[in-house]
Order: sequence, then C-alpha cells, then structure tokens
Amino acid sequence: MTKDTLVRLTLRQPDDWHVHLRDGDALSTTVPDCARSFARAIVMPNLKPPVASLDAASQYRDRILAAVPDDVSFEPLMTLYLTPSLAIDAVREGRASGLIKGVKFYPQGATTNSDAGIAALDTVMPVLDAMADVGLPLLVHGEVTDRDIDIFDREAVFLERTLGPLMARLPELRVVLEHITTEDSVQFVQAHPAMGATITAHHLIYSRNDMLAGGIRPHLYCLPILKREKHRHALIEAATSGHPQFFLGTDSAPHAIGDKESDCGCAGCYTAPHALPLYVSVFDQVGRLDQFEAFASIHGPRFYGLPLNTNTISLEKRPMQIPESRPFGTKTVRLLGAGDTLEWSLA
Ligand code: DOR
Ligand code: ZN
Repeated sequence: MTKDTLVRLTLRQPDDWHVHLRDGDALSTTVPDCARSFARAIVMPNLKPPVASLDAASQYRDRILAAVPDDVSFEPLMTLYLTPSLAIDAVREGRASGLIKGVKFYPQGATTNSDAGIAALDTVMPVLDAMADVGLPLLVHGEVTDRDIDIFDREAVFLERTLGPLMARLPELRVVLEHITTEDSVQFVQAHPAMGATITAHHLIYSRNDMLAGGIRPHLYCLPILKREKHRHALIEAATSGHPQFFLGTDSAPHAIGDKESDCGCAGCYTAPHALPLYVSVFDQVGRLDQFEAFASIHGPRFYGLPLNTNTISLEKRPMQIPESRPFGTKTVRLLGAGDTLEWSLA
C-alpha cells in the first residue's frame, strides 16, 4: 500500500467476504455495484428457494457472471445453504471441484429467508464432520432465536449456547462468525485462533441510538441488530488493529424501499456501491489508514486459502455525497446513509 500524498490511498483490490446479490432483475444492479469495488465476493445463498445443491450454486453463479459489466473482472465465490437435508456429497464434491467456498448456517427463523435453516445443530453433525474433514468453512449467522432472549443479547447467547459447544465438539471445523456486532464476539474469536470473523461497515459506523433515538430509522435496521456504542468501539478496534482474524464483509443486503419502510420492515442495509468509502472513512477517523489494506484485501484470502489480488485500486480523500438510491429490479433500493457526505471517494 502506498500513500502518494495524504489524499490518495492505493491498495490491492479488496474482496467482499459476505454479500447478498439476490437474483433475477436485481442482479443487473447488485452485481455491477459489488464488482466495481471488489475482485471477489462470498455470495450468500439465502434465495427463495435456498441455494442448497451444486446445480443450484452453479446456475446461480452463471446468472451472476452474466451480469458482470464488460470492463471489470469479478469472481463470485459460491456458498451452500445448510438445510436439514444438505447432502454430504455436495460438501465433498463442492470442495473438490472448487465451486463451493463455504456453507452458510442460518439458525431457523433468525433473519431474511432463514426458514429453511437449522433448528438444532445435532441434526447436521455428519455434514459438519465432512466439512471439517475436507476443510470447507462454516459461515455462521450467530444469533439464537428463542423468544425469551432479548434481541440485543441474541449474539452473545449464541456464543454460549451454540458456537462454544460446537467448537468444543469439532475443533477442526473452520468457522467464520459473520457480521459480528459485540465485544463478546471479538473476544470469542480471539480466543479461537483458527476462526475468522467479518465486520460490516454499518456496524462500524452506527449504534442503536442512531437507529432509535429521536425517531425510528428503518434503513438502519439490520440483523444482527445494531448494538450500543461500547460494542461499536470494540469492533473498530478489532477491524483496525491489524489482527488477522478480522476481515471485510459488507453484508450488503438490498431490500426495496417499500419493504423497509413498512409495518414490518425487512432487515438489511445496501452498502455495495459505497462500501469502500464507508470503511476507509472509519480507518481514517481513528488514524489507522495503514491497516486498511490488511483488513480489506489480505486477511480474508489468507483465511480462505486463496491468492491475494495483484491489481490495485485507489481511494481519494475527496468528499462524496452518498446517492439516494439505485434501481432494484422493477423497484428501488435506498443506499445506507443516503444524502450524507463521506470524506472519501473511489478514485
Ligand atoms: O440484515 C440482514 N439482512 N441480515 C441478515 O442476516 C440477512 C440479510 C438479508 O438477506 O436481507
Ligand atoms: Zn448476510
């Protein structure tokens, strides 16, 4: 990474280790928006129906590739959805062929399109054993869904009740704790050196006050839900510390405006188009620009055992007003922070 002047940062092209591209017409926006910043992305499988077979993953990959603009190169890294009936053969063949880079575990009912997820991990131990055997990572949405657990505690309780016991039972399993939101998760990951964790831009920038104080802001509603300031500070410290277990995963998750501004609004923030300016602004604010390349472009490929990107991109310290919206199929999606001004832009 070189800083030619104080205002331009050139780094290896980053990858997004957690993104929702959706499907159909939406791909004509979501894929270019991701591919203009990121060389590769781990693509979430929570479509309807879920991506739970090698055929489904391969066909989804083709639809994504068909939407990549001619002037960029982009590699979608495919995942399988862990359903109660996911085939062990799909795990073994998916890993051997290189098509599949991870299996996503959604606790049933935890978030968008998680109905097909897992109620009790005991039921899928043979699949997890096979994953540990072939070295295929488990990508975890880390929240319990019990109605008696407060929504702000769901991640911390998940560590205690689900992830801790799983790691003790199957220590060889490679695990990414996705979109971590708490100090508890930072500490849990650090205590398990073989794990990785992704951190979103929105969890670095906003806390629950931003979402709920002085009015409810549905465009800040995501899952796991934004937490209090002390957790946000722990995430900033983890992301900017140079610690190799933490890497960039936007969890960019578009929903049409009407589906968010609703009686029962959907969870998810759309950040793909401006993710890099969002993240780099945080690193700059804490004086850690020198750690940005490691977080965005090095720790992720090292965890997944993939080569580092060799091409570079540049960011400039030049104010950018976040656009209001983007087309989303026949509808419209609002960008996170629409109308706000960021200190950094894509060069
Ligand atoms: O905010 C979120 N949106 N969190 C998730 O876990 C899923 C995602 C989505 O697919 O909309
Ligand atoms: Zn996600």
